[in-house]
Amino acid sequence: MVSRAELFAEVRRLAAVRDEETADFDANCILQDLLGEKNPMFSPKEPVPDEKAAEILALARKRSKGFPLQYLLGQWEFWGCNFKVGEGVLIPRPDTETLVEQVLDICRREGLTAPKIADLCSGSGCIAVALKKELPQADVYAVELSEKALGYLRQNTQLNGCGDIHIIEGDVLGRDTARSLTGLDILVSNPPYLTAQDMSELQTEVQHEPATALFGGEDGLDFYRAMTELWKSSIKSGGFIAYEFGMGQHDAVKAILEENGFTDVELRRDGGGIIRTAAAVNQNYAAITF
Ligand SMILES: C[S@@+](CC[C@H](N)C(=O)[O-])C[C@H]1O[C@@H](n2cnc3c(N)ncnc32)[C@H](O)[C@@H]1O
Repeated sequence: MVSRAELFAEVRRLAAVRDEETADFDANCILQDLLGEKNPMFSPKEPVPDEKAAEILALARKRSKGFPLQYLLGQWEFWGCNFKVGEGVLIPRPDTETLVEQVLDICRREGLTAPKIADLCSGSGCIAVALKKELPQADVYAVELSEKALGYLRQNTQLNGCGDIHIIEGDVLGRDTARSLTGLDILVSNPPYLTAQDMSELQTEVQHEPATALFGGEDGLDFYRAMTELWKSSIKSGGFIAYEFGMGQHDAVKAILEENGFTDVELRRDGGGIIRTAAAVNQNYAAITF
């Protein structure tokens, strides 16, 4: 039997094949998860049963080939909550917390304690769950099309005690879906936004994530154009829209919002200093114009 320290060294070596900078972190996460202990290296000499060591090394080998750590672990943290993840669903990113913060700031400023919110392209449900956790009286709807993502979305709402989030299986680009939700105080979305060029240059890890969660058309803006036009009538006059987007897309997204009758566009930077989100006020008066 190998000791924990020997196993750690081998897992670290394999993880470093992929990325030297994150090798310690990856090895720690894998050992913690598989040994079911928060600090497995407190007892470095403890032997690891052969079967368990083989299981851990198999994961480390997958990691060395660029399989995402988050999928290996089967869960990932966002907004202090745990989300089940695996192939077929986008891994929640820390950048997306900027979008959650912006929506919460709007709610605080406007005194919205029980807003009606729709999270379009909900994926794992990270945005919908974070908002419901912070605004327990909110009426939250999560719209998602992918069957696989919907499985995670259902699981994650339940696991995080947010079983009263309304999950809608639907196409956000479809008129019927937009028509089914009206009177929204806030529409929030982190839609697919990678360009054709981005898709041809994906990092190995990201290649394991579903293309339907990533690709936003030739210039990455297809969802912003279509959703803004289609959903503006579902948002109350004076209500808000809030989007996440990719680096360098802020001017184009701002223009799309303004062309569709939204004003007071507020752009925000993420933790890395990149302009990452926009929120704006709906000035359209026609409540439903389908
Ligand atoms: C960029 S991911 C965002 C997931 C999640 N909101 C997050 O921030 O981590 C986009 C999501 O949109 C979903 N999606 C793509 N096309 C869609 C459509 N036409 N209707 C509804 N959902 C769609 C994908 O399946 C994916 O889950």
